[in-house]
Amino acid sequence: MSDTEKMELGTYEATVERSRKLEEDLSVHPEKYRVLTGDRPTGRLHIGHLFGSLQNRVRLHNLGVETFIVIADYQVLTDRDSFDKISENVRQLTLDYLAAGIDPTDGKTFIFPHSYVPELNQLLLPFLTLVSNAELNRNPTVKEEIQASGLKSINAGMYTYPVHQAADILFCKGNVVPVGKDQLPHLELTRVIARRFNDKFAPNNPVFPEPQPLLSKSPMILGLDGGQKMSKSRNNAIMLSATEDETAALIKKAKTDAERFITYEPERRPEIANLLSLISMCTGETPEAIAAKIGNGGGGQLKKMLTESINEYLRPFRQKRIELESNMDYVRQVILNGAQKAREVGTATLEEVRAAMNMKI
Ligand code: TRP
Repeated sequence: MSDTEKMELGTYEATVERSRKLEEDLSVHPEKYRVLTGDRPTGRLHIGHLFGSLQNRVRLHNLGVETFIVIADYQVLTDRDSFDKISENVRQLTLDYLAAGIDPTDGKTFIFPHSYVPELNQLLLPFLTLVSNAELNRNPTVKEEIQASGLKSINAGMYTYPVHQAADILFCKGNVVPVGKDQLPHLELTRVIARRFNDKFAPNNPVFPEPQPLLSKSPMILGLDGGQKMSKSRNNAIMLSATEDETAALIKKAKTDAERFITYEPERRPEIANLLSLISMCTGETPEAIAAKIGNGGGGQLKKMLTESINEYLRPFRQKRIELESNMDYVRQVILNGAQKAREVGTATLEEVRAAMNMKI
């Protein structure tokens, strides 16, 4: 391991430790925190999202923490040309949130697309002056996304969206951001921007908090084809909105291996282990116990059990989703209410920012 790698690992371990402490304090003092999380509206959600970020959000929400969920619609324009599905995707994403148990009627949860909040977007301008080109160019997550996009020419929005993300987080003074590892560079940039803004413009009376990452404990869920991350575009994902028959058909094609006797050995038999973990997440039994139950039943029995567990687990969720789908006016209203609240909060922040920068007439 190189020194840089060791250093990075050290920082990562420190982040994990801080995140654990934060987790403890959240349940004791939920009122001290405002959670800001977000997704880009690129499609419907699958069970990887449910067992990863969605359930974590519902849990935080149930602790009584105020939660702002930003739908990053502008970010879609950074790495793809098509924009015809954006508003449909925003509504479908919101449906998934609501069906998963995120409840905006508690007055503590707000869902909104950032394009609807001009005050948030205006923060981008001063923030852009607080970072250098070099800093933007070395963001590892952006570099990976540029590689993955396959695009020949990269627009400036791609390099600057992490600054936009800082605006997403800081406009409402979010101080807790539940994230996966890939988002840590963006969160670090947000902290840098908050610090530089305070140091430069408001040394005696800081405007922004330095938000902390809350690393989700979520297990890595592989696609049904094994080996890869679950993702809709790879066609290896069980969508929350899929029917029971579609779910069964997809699981039937799932990759297993040549050994009949079912055992839980994540290193040696990753595909089998993944299917067992999925059952475990639905039923609460350990993967080892499930494997022991199936044993000689083989891949066929494993798939049958997975199909039943998933369909049963998702049944209430899917039912709720179908009900909500017939009431899209309500879904739209949830989004508009969220945007209205975000604008109120953003207006107050922008006033402070303007005063700090000496631009108040
Ligand atoms: N960059 C995030 C992603 O690609 C989405 C996002 C935008 C976000 N703004 C955010 C996440 C603010 C957390 C907080 O998934």
